[in-house]
Amino acid sequence: MCGIFAYLNYLTPKSRQEVLDLLVTGLKRLEYRGYDSTGVAIDSPDNKSIVMVKRTGKVKVLEDAIQEHFSGGDYSEPVLTHIGIAHTRWATHGVPCERNSHPHRSDEENGFVVVHNGIITNYNDVKTFLAKRGYEFESDTDTEVFAKLVHHLWKTHPTYSFRELVEQAILQVEGAFAIAVKSKHFPGECVASRRSSPLLVGIKTKTRLATDHIPILYGKDDKKQSSDKVLPRSESTSEFMPLEEKEVEYFFASDASAVIEHTNRVIYLEDDDVAAVRNGTLSIHRLKKSLDDPHAREITTLKMEIQQIMKGNYDYFMQKEIFEQPDSVVNTMRGRVRFDENSIVLGGIKDYIPEIKRCRRLMLIGCGTSYHSAVATRQLLEELTELPVIVELASDFLDRNTPIFRDDVCFFISQSGETADTLMALRYCKQRGALIMGITNTVGSSICRESHCGVHINAGPEIGVASTKAYTSQFISLVMFALVMSEDRLSLQQRRLEILQALSTLADQIRAVLKLDSKVQELAKDLYQHKSLLIMGRGYNFATCLEGALKVKELTYMHSEGIMAGELKHGPLALVDDSMPVLMIVLRDPVYVKCMNALQQVTSRKGCPIIICEEGDEETKAFSSRHLEIPRTVDCLQGILTVIPMQLLSYHIAVLRGCDVDCPRNLAKSVTVE
Ligand code: F6R
Repeated sequence: MCGIFAYLNYLTPKSRQEVLDLLVTGLKRLEYRGYDSTGVAIDSPDNKSIVMVKRTGKVKVLEDAIQEHFSGGDYSEPVLTHIGIAHTRWATHGVPCERNSHPHRSDEENGFVVVHNGIITNYNDVKTFLAKRGYEFESDTDTEVFAKLVHHLWKTHPTYSFRELVEQAILQVEGAFAIAVKSKHFPGECVASRRSSPLLVGIKTKTRLATDHIPILYGKDDKKQSSDKVLPRSESTSEFMPLEEKEVEYFFASDASAVIEHTNRVIYLEDDDVAAVRNGTLSIHRLKKSLDDPHAREITTLKMEIQQIMKGNYDYFMQKEIFEQPDSVVNTMRGRVRFDENSIVLGGIKDYIPEIKRCRRLMLIGCGTSYHSAVATRQLLEELTELPVIVELASDFLDRNTPIFRDDVCFFISQSGETADTLMALRYCKQRGALIMGITNTVGSSICRESHCGVHINAGPEIGVASTKAYTSQFISLVMFALVMSEDRLSLQQRRLEILQALSTLADQIRAVLKLDSKVQELAKDLYQHKSLLIMGRGYNFATCLEGALKVKELTYMHSEGIMAGELKHGPLALVDDSMPVLMIVLRDPVYVKCMNALQQVTSRKGCPIIICEEGDEETKAFSSRHLEIPRTVDCLQGILTVIPMQLLSYHIAVLRGCDVDCPRNLAKSVTVE
């Protein structure tokens, strides 16, 4: 959902070429957030103007264009201070083309240039306001109004600092944004801010930082009053709090994967923070102070390793992430599940357990794959908590103005922790007094920070746009929660033991399923030229059908539908004939007999089902045209083992169809717009 990256060096000599290389590498790390178009802005060699290069398509196209564009100029001379800003776009307003690519500029002289992630919802009003003052627009984007608004403020308020100008501009815009601004009029300075879109500042110094906190500046400056009635001036101050370092490099980025190869010291900005660098000094400013505001922003040390965001020997990130699952599920359980004591401790929620046990109902809210993890675990949560469990798609939940009560416990499940629909739903429930629990994979994300309590799924960075290992780790996290909730229920101890034992062998069983890879590849060869694929199951495996169909759709652009086997006779059976591929999950669990009924309904319509069944189940296999055998586990964890063949199948079909596995068309990871 767009990635922004900015780099600033202070007294650390770097040539423009090196700055460009840094920007391109940063964009490559953020490419999964959007790959419709890309662009960079740096200073010209004579420092008199800002040069921008933009291209439609992926970062590689921009990289080639940069090489061509800068081959003649003097870009190898070291410069003591330089600011470069860069962007990779997932189009929202305006088709993907160079004209709509970021950075956007304020005027023909490139006085102010802006990169933006999010949507400025009142851009039409701001555009009308600026058009009346003579501004002409050259793109269809919402972002361009921001660059021009800063320019307008600069012209009307010549005494304002760069930070003040950006502050004034963000006061006028509504919606979501993470922005970084560079200006010809303020060389050596960079200003960045966020509201509902993620943004962090990476800090790299030669010596250890003298502080672990950056104080926040609040306040007002009564001396400067706005003369502009339409855009009234708010309270502001122009003080800077120095960071006691001389040689320093700053990185502004949409997420940590873009900075980790440079530094592990970052500050996660909060909504409406305005971060400014001037004379190598970083200041963080807020316009208004509320009672619970902290005095400083913490400089956090990232735990991420660079290897985690590299592909290694794999062809695609998605492939790597599928094969990481034996380890990622263990990481989700690490330090939490004590197999020797049959106990589980979830540190992030333990103080809230008594309150959760008294709640009226559990509501599980998410989008896409994260929503499917809720579907996958609802039955177990109902069984082990004996509470009503409601599963909601975040977007639909908001459309309905769903009633929420103070004694509800609402789970917000999100790999990125930034999905706008999920975040909006969180805020809606929080306002109504519910207890908010975040289940995320991204430390420091908005959902993490805005939750009362939560479980970090610890799956490690997920770069492939299609979610895989995050799903299985979300699944395990919710299973662990169910186990915690039933710890003191005598009648459930046998069931808990059965699940704990199954969890202890799960990693090995996932390894066994991954060995099916070449068999799945063969199956993909049979299927990849079909137009459609139906995936059926019920009970604990219905979620796998939904998730499998989503993976097939998003990666291969083939039609696919996840069908509840019980619903087959209510309509979908009409789709079945001898040419329609049908994949059925039929395991020896409480719904086996019913699944077999559905299977018979398919075969009697000349359908040739491909079956996922348990190892050695000869009877079931006999009904299949082809089959995949998976190890036996407890019913409520089957979904982990059945989803992996679906992940592999969609991956192989995508490769055979020549699709870009890590960057499916029209999609982006981390959907930060509603
Ligand atoms: C599908 C996929 C999406 C996400 C959805 C929610 O493979 O990745 O469906 O699951 O956009 O994203 P998060 O989990 O980041 O909230």
